[in-house]
Amino acid sequence: MTSLKIAIQKSGRLNEKSVELLKNCGLQFENYKSSLISTVYNFPLEILFLRDDDIPEYVQDGIADLGIVGENVIHETQVDVHYLQRLGFGKCMLKIAIPNQSHLNDIQDLNGKAIATSYPVILKKYLNEKGVSATIRTISGSVEISPSLGLSDAICDIVSTGGTLRSNGLKPFADVLSSEAVLIGKNGIGSHDIVIELMQRIQSVLRAKETKYVVLNVERSNLDCIINLLPGVKSPTVVPLAEENWVAVHTAIEEHDFWEKINQLKAVGAQGIIVMPVEKIIL
Ligand code: PRP
Ligand code: ZN
Repeated sequence: MTSLKIAIQKSGRLNEKSVELLKNCGLQFENYKSSLISTVYNFPLEILFLRDDDIPEYVQDGIADLGIVGENVIHETQVDVHYLQRLGFGKCMLKIAIPNQSHLNDIQDLNGKAIATSYPVILKKYLNEKGVSATIRTISGSVEISPSLGLSDAICDIVSTGGTLRSNGLKPFADVLSSEAVLIGKNGIGSHDIVIELMQRIQSVLRAKETKYVVLNVERSNLDCIINLLPGVKSPTVVPLAEENWVAVHTAIEEHDFWEKINQLKAVGAQGIIVMPVEKIIL
């Protein structure tokens, strides 16, 4: 089978998680930092390591069939690609930020000011919507130092932990666009066998991430209460224990209401609760 090519970020916020996701999908490959391309040994895929900003165009032009990239970059490059899957990592916000000592209060105060950014397309659209007329200074990197160099009054850049802003004496001013990592494909590739297989694997990994495997002990007389608390599960596994009248219940609990569920289970007599990570869920 001829292999497909997937482009991922060479270094930066999304690199590590992109590699981790592909490895969790069972793909075996060397993650050479120095090379541009890596062949997957056990799946018909080649991995291209690229600058994130270049990935959407590579996919649009068909040089790569697939790509993992932040939505921010897709919006900025205005390419024609297919969104195949949200990936749940690389969550961040494109923000306008100003120096800590700045006296700007309102978005309208940006009128006549200069804003440095690597995202001129998104920023221009945002300012137009707000009816603000500011000078956009496009720079390709290290945007956060431009106010201290006197190059701009504000910046518009990606904020994830906020560490970069803090260490450069900047504070958030306005939210422009939220973003996360997505899997994109060139037009028409979504129905390709290899893509369907890869997406099934990705979905099983993502589903598993949201789920914990829980084993608990309960007195048989409380079993109904426990089962009623687990409506998502058709029938949890119930195993008798050596001690008469006690059983162990095995079930899956979703991450989002995990602690609430655990507390409810404890309240109706669950004991010795063991929680385990789930690697994959195949439906
Ligand atoms: C963004 C941004 C900052 C950093 C912010 O870079 O330019 O450098 O992330 O993250 P923090 O709030 O956690 O400190 P990105 O990963 O998009 O890489 P690039 O700008 O080099 O493409
Ligand atoms: Zn970038």
